[in-house]
Parts: sequence; structure tokens; C-alpha cells
Amino acid sequence: MSVEMDTVVSLCKRRGIIFQNSEIYGGIGNTWDYGPLGVELKNNVKDAWWRRVVYERDDMEGLDAAILMNPATWVASGHLDNFNDPLADCKKCKHRFRLDDVADLHCPDCGGELTEARSFNLMFKTFVGPVEDEASLAYLRPETAQGIFVNFVNVQKMMRRKIPFGIAQIGKSFRNEITPGNFTFRTREFEQMEIEYFVKPGTDEEGYQHWVQERFQWYLDLGITKEHLRLREHGKEELAHYAKSCVDIEYLFPMGWSELEGIANRGDFDLRMHSKHSGKDLSYFDEVTKEKYLPYVIEPSAGADRATLAFLIDAYHEEVVKGEKRVLLRLDNRLVPIKVAVLPLLKNRADVVEKARAIAADLRGEFRTVYDDTASIGRLYRRQDEVGTPYCITVDVQSMDDHQVTVRDRDSMKQARVPIAGVKAYIKDCLAKGALVT
Ligand code: GAP
Repeated sequence: MSVEMDTVVSLCKRRGIIFQNSEIYGGIGNTWDYGPLGVELKNNVKDAWWRRVVYERDDMEGLDAAILMNPATWVASGHLDNFNDPLADCKKCKHRFRLDDVADLHCPDCGGELTEARSFNLMFKTFVGPVEDEASLAYLRPETAQGIFVNFVNVQKMMRRKIPFGIAQIGKSFRNEITPGNFTFRTREFEQMEIEYFVKPGTDEEGYQHWVQERFQWYLDLGITKEHLRLREHGKEELAHYAKSCVDIEYLFPMGWSELEGIANRGDFDLRMHSKHSGKDLSYFDEVTKEKYLPYVIEPSAGADRATLAFLIDAYHEEVVKGEKRVLLRLDNRLVPIKVAVLPLLKNRADVVEKARAIAADLRGEFRTVYDDTASIGRLYRRQDEVGTPYCITVDVQSMDDHQVTVRDRDSMKQARVPIAGVKAYIKDCLAKGALVT
């Protein structure tokens, strides 16, 4: 189903998924905090990515490089010269726009005349150490990629890797975006999940095609509706300064088709530039063929926040049950913030409450589990549906005699009666199968 962004924003706030940053001070433009359930969801997205691209392959290594880098990095990478957006101001209402967002050189808000376009570098500047002068100028990285390139030789040599192999990294990036917006879609501080995959020149097209298919499939495997995903090849005029070719995986967000992830063929641009600027040889020597070359790089670059938003939007579902609206997040079991909720049917029966708490404590070691007795059972179910909890365990008076509990499935609302002694194994089974085991 299609959903408005406002509906998702309001659900996220109401259910502790995403809050406005520094809200008590009126916030700071387009900056968001992940709440207790949001941090779980986003961690699960990052974990699913890491598993797929690092653990399930034998040609990948991980890395966690620092945000601050020697500023020479950004000269070599071309970001100091080229990471610019053309911007113009409205002479009348003073609003500021990226020129790419303006159709006819008039203000999209009031129709006023725009100033001439100026080039605006998107990198955040800061100073390292106590003296604020040119010599101590540093930048917050605008992409995690450069931390990988400058470590290419370290990883290749220390891990004794042969080409082709790749390096994966998850981390924060910062861009002083002129027009952030659409909730967490475009922000100034965000997290990227990037891969630099090093190949022999001449085999780059094959590597590129592999990663386009592989990354597209990852979103499908985690439940994104096929009709909401598409590939879009960049035209030559659109290509970033480093790219030979690039394709975007686009998602049908509420504001229309927009980039979720980009897969670029960066050629040898980065290793060549870093070799030149650092004076260090970053080429690769093939022991078998005795060839020495600068590898080409295929770069699948995803956003952890954008992917999380797409999973949230795609999972959002409304239906009418017995005349009442039911909101549910049909998230994949690997992504859900809470795997299981334990709910006592009667909170004034001490033995029922005690049993439910004991079951929750036992499950907690295995899965993210919550215990809740703060409303009627109907309300408790709805609360868990809204945050995507796939299974709820209800402890009732009969459980005291037959030592069984009721397990309820989020999507079908079907229920199964299960012995307490085997409930942990049962939930594990359901989570793995993605459905209530009957
Ligand atoms: N290293 C290549 C690179 O950074 P990009 O297309 O500029 O390429 C890659 O960014 C991904 O990072 C995007 O597809 C998006 O998911 C995420 N991203 C980029 N800018 C973002 C922003 N301002 N807010 C949130 N996510 C962003």
C-alpha cells in the first residue's frame, strides 16, 4: 500500500522509533535521533548488510576508519574541487535552492527572481587542535569510501588478499546539504554502508554487473516489494567526477522514485590520485602472472538511514479488523526491533504475571524480548503490531494448569497453543521460517 511520509513520521515518533533531534530547543533542521526501537531496527539493517556482504562471502574484509582524515585526502579525491552544488537564493523570500531543483530559474516557493548561481562545497569544516588557522583545518568525511582507499594496501597485504576482493565499511558521513528533507531521506549527518571491490582492469564490467544484481536482490530478500524498486542508469552529464558509469537502485518513496543506493564503476581514479598525491605506490602485484597494475574499483554505496526508511515505508500496512483500523509493520523477522512480546492476560493475577515475567526473562537471553502488562490484551497486541513484533506470547489462567501459552502471529493473527517448556525453540523456529509453525 502507498503511505504518506507524515504518517510514517508520526508512527516513528509515537512508537519510539525516530525523534526530532534536540526537540526541546526547537530542533535543528532535518536532524533526527533513533529512539529505543529505531536503534534496534537500524542496527538490524546494518547487521543484515554486514552478514550478506562480509560473512557470507569469501572475498570481503571489514574496516572501521576514522571520520577525520588528513586533509590531503580530500585534495586527492577531488572533493575539495568538485564536491559542490550550484546554489541560488530567491531575491524576494530569501529561500535557498539547489539549482538542480529549480525548473525555470524562478523561486519554486514564491516565483521571485533568483540570484546568480554560486558554487557551494558540501564538506563540513572543522579545526584539529586548539588553534583555528589554515594549518589545522580538517573536514568531516563526506563519504566513508576514502577511508577504504587509503587503507587498500594495508588490508591487501596484511590479510594476504588476491584481486578480486573487497572492503566493506559502515560509518557516519557528513554533508552540508543545501536542501535536506523528506524525513531521514536527506540529512546532513547520515550513515553509509559502502563497499570498494577491487578488480583487474578489463574485468570491471563483470564485477559491476555482479554487484548491481547482488545489491538489488538484497532489498528484495529483506522484503521490499519488487514493484517499488528499479534500476536507473546515470546519464554521462550526471556522473560524479570519479565515475566511469553508475546505476542507482531507486525506491518508490512517498515523494516519488528516489535513490536508495548507487553502484559506480570508479575505474582506477581513487588509487591513481592517492598514489600521485601521497607519493606511495598503491598498485597491486600479481604473483602468478607477474603483472603490476592499479586495480579498478566497483563501489556499491548504500545509506543505512535511507535503507531503514525504505524498509519502514514498505512494511507499513493498514487494515480494518472487526470495524477497527489495525496498523502493522510487516517487517522481515531479521529487521524487527522486537522479536517477541510476552503479555499476561490478567495483570491482577500474581501467578499469571509471575509466569509471564519468568518466560520473558528466559527468552531475553536469546531474542530481543519485551514484557508488557500496561493495557488490555487487545491494546497490547495493537501496540506490538505497530512496531512489527512478529510474535506475541500470552499467558492466561489456563497456562497455570496446562503449562501452555498462546503464540499469536502478527500478520495472520492466527494463534497456536505451545508448551511453555518448548516455547523458546518454537519461537526460534517461527523466526527462522518467517511464519507461525502449526
Ligand atoms: N561513495 C559514493 C557516495 O557517497 P552517494 O551517491 O553520494 O555516493 C551513497 O551516496 C548513498 O549514501 C546514497 O545512495 C544514499 O543512500 C546515502 N546518502 C548520500 N547522501 C545522503 C544524505 N544527505 N542523507 C542520507 N543519506 C545519504
